[in-house]
Amino acid sequence: MLVLGIETSCDETAAAVVTEAGDVLSDVVRSQIAAHAPYGGVVPEIASRDHARAIAPVVDEALERASTRLRDIDGIAVTSQPGLSGALLVGLQMAKGLAWAAEKPLVGVDHLVGHLLAVFLRRPGQEAPPPEYPFIALLVSGGHTAIYRADGPQLDAVHEIGATRDDAAGEAFDKVAKILGLGYPGGPAVDRLAAEGDAKRAGVELPRGMVDRRSFEFSFSGIKSAVARHVGSLREPPRGQALADLCAAFQATVVDVLTGKTVRAAEREGLTRIVLAGGVAANRGLRARMAAVCATRGISLFVPPFASCTDNAAMIAYAGALRLARGERDTMALSPTTRTALLRVTRKGGGKRS
Ligand code: KG4
Ligand code: ZN
Repeated sequence: MLVLGIETSCDETAAAVVTEAGDVLSDVVRSQIAAHAPYGGVVPEIASRDHARAIAPVVDEALERASTRLRDIDGIAVTSQPGLSGALLVGLQMAKGLAWAAEKPLVGVDHLVGHLLAVFLRRPGQEAPPPEYPFIALLVSGGHTAIYRADGPQLDAVHEIGATRDDAAGEAFDKVAKILGLGYPGGPAVDRLAAEGDAKRAGVELPRGMVDRRSFEFSFSGIKSAVARHVGSLREPPRGQALADLCAAFQATVVDVLTGKTVRAAEREGLTRIVLAGGVAANRGLRARMAAVCATRGISLFVPPFASCTDNAAMIAYAGALRLARGERDTMALSPTTRTALLRVTRKGGGKRS
């Protein structure tokens, strides 16, 4: 089965052709970063407009690179939630138009489920076998941060163990990068600088947020504010080695919290498999620390290649292929939703939890 996937939930216009087995035949991602960078974040109106401009050529390119044509595709999968409504709408309209014109089945995919299943994609040259169910997944992206238990690929087999109460981990990286003048999106820049820095030399104590040993919830807004306060207390903005040291301190703190809670979740659930997902899973510090801790606890760690971590349509095509294989179909009434379909147990915001 060949599935065309379409993804436009945020600031990447993407299309891909993937088989039911997860083989990636093509994976086209057109980033809008340059259009949003001057504003220091994603501007929804710009996102919708750019998706509308890029979607048709991106889909054409995905079909062409896979050496296939629409008529040979078995189904169309499209991200329907969560995301920016105007941005999602562009992908949905494209998917519906193609499905109607070529008389192909259509399925909507939850973007977060796409991220969680990205570890099953098989790209050329990729050797590592995928995990078996059940596993613990740490999903860390620009919009979401949560720990899940996945007993299968379906929506009702994925259970949230804990999520962030405020900022997502990627959002914290991006905001700290902005404070430090590193541009947008800043995650990769912080990652690069952190590799040259020494957290201990930074001389700043950063709050770890929600460190209660029993809680699986996260909070990253405090650490971002602490970095801002620290920078504000300096005579001039940090540069050179001092900047690298501060990046290292910030990254080490975030990575420590993410790793600690994920491993504890695996131990509580009695599971020995951990999967990383989402854009922040590209972070080298997180990959290295998670690998080191998992090795000492007898846990197998599964980390998708970079291209599968950040937003892409291959993961949407694959998640859609599994839905199609189960006989599931959506109608032309499929519409965008800003929230995930996954059941959420963590409430946003502060306050006591019972
Ligand atoms: O999954 P993704 O591509 O889009 C969302 O669904 O949000 O994640 C993008 C996020 C951004 O916040 C970006 O700064 C972060 O992932 N990111 C990183 C790295 N690469 C991307 N954060 C830390 N280190 C990285 N190497
Ligand atoms: Zn994403």
